Amino acid sequence: MPPNPALSAPVAPDPEPAAPHITFEAIRKVYPGGVQALHAVSFSIPRGGVFGIIGRSGAGKSTLLRSINMLERPSGGRVLIDGTDVGALDEEALMRLRRRIGMIFQHFNLLSAKTVRENVGLPLKVAGVPAAEVRRRVDELLDLVGIADKADVYPTKLSGGQKQRVGIARALVHRPDILLCDEATSALDPETTHAILGLLRDINAALGLTIVLITHDMAVIRAICDEVLVLDQGHAVERGPVWKVFGAPKGEATRALLRPLQHGLPDDLARRLQPEPPRHGGHAILALRFTGETHPEGLSLASLLSLAPDAKLLHGGIDRIQGHAQGDLLVAVPAAALRSAAGRSFSPDSIKVLGYVADDV
Ligand SMILES: Nc1ncnc2c1ncn2[C@@H]1O[C@H](COP(=O)(O)OP(=O)(O)OP(=O)(O)O)[C@@H](O)[C@H]1O
Ligand SMILES: [Mg+2]
Repeated sequence: MPPNPALSAPVAPDPEPAAPHITFEAIRKVYPGGVQALHAVSFSIPRGGVFGIIGRSGAGKSTLLRSINMLERPSGGRVLIDGTDVGALDEEALMRLRRRIGMIFQHFNLLSAKTVRENVGLPLKVAGVPAAEVRRRVDELLDLVGIADKADVYPTKLSGGQKQRVGIARALVHRPDILLCDEATSALDPETTHAILGLLRDINAALGLTIVLITHDMAVIRAICDEVLVLDQGHAVERGPVWKVFGAPKGEATRALLRPLQHGLPDDLARRLQPEPPRHGGHAILALRFTGETHPEGLSLASLLSLAPDAKLLHGGIDRIQGHAQGDLLVAVPAAALRSAAGRSFSPDSIKVLGYVADDV
């Protein structure tokens, strides 16, 4: 039988890190009143990718994002865009730079008394661009974001997803090379979220701009981001390619954020679990974790069966993130088989005996 190319395709290596587009050097922020939102945060964002920032509510994500265009001035440290110190720019230079940085928000921020075309064209009109040019550019953008047919409609007549498409078109009017997204899909249902993420990815590929995105939804990060930074109480605690951070989170803050994506022990099993093997029979419940590091191409079912020929898959899932198969599986093996399983070829990145159940599972 010829090899199935889909199964034997090599895993794409991690791309070479691109030259930094945005660099944060020891950024601190203390708000009036004394809340310290950021503590000496240093990292850089490569050009042309989609970069995610995650963290609990109040971790400092929006403060960090808004320091990129100085909507929030840091109390210390520097933000460099292409090597230029943004905080040192005079008002006029800062205004010019801000035009090169588009921004979209959770609540769209559209003007309800203006049509879609007027909303998108407003920043150009304000900048003194001739009307014919505004119209040409706006129509091109409405086409790009898939709402050309809504040009003369008022925002109240639009769905959330359509409103966000208007927000994206408006953010792109000055042909920015950075797009900042603060919870841009949080007000949308899962299907619309998926469509908007697809649009952001398409825009990223077509226009080559750098996207920096904040979200509480780890599935969004998994679906669209190349790299992710984890903020915890104003500290940058972890940063790397999404598959690495999600596959083997280092810090407790990261693990807590990722818990919704993981497959914990179902309640019915948890209730029956006992710490010691029963005297006769029974099953051991094992948690297998795959980080994407050792079996990036996928998991061999034969090796799973070598653990015990009658091993049962109970719960779990394997995701493919940036070409790396990773996830967790709960498996039951007869308690007697567990004792002879040592030394078998099956090797998840971690294997933990969660406990035993007395009877069948
Ligand atoms: N204008 C402000 N004045 C005083 N404190 C502020 C101000 N804006 C934010 N903070 C505080 O700074 C900290 C970080 O806030 P920030 O909005 O950056 O967090 P976040 O990670 O974006 O949170 P969320 O996920 O809830 O949006 C919080 O403790 C917040 O209360
Ligand atoms: Mg925020």
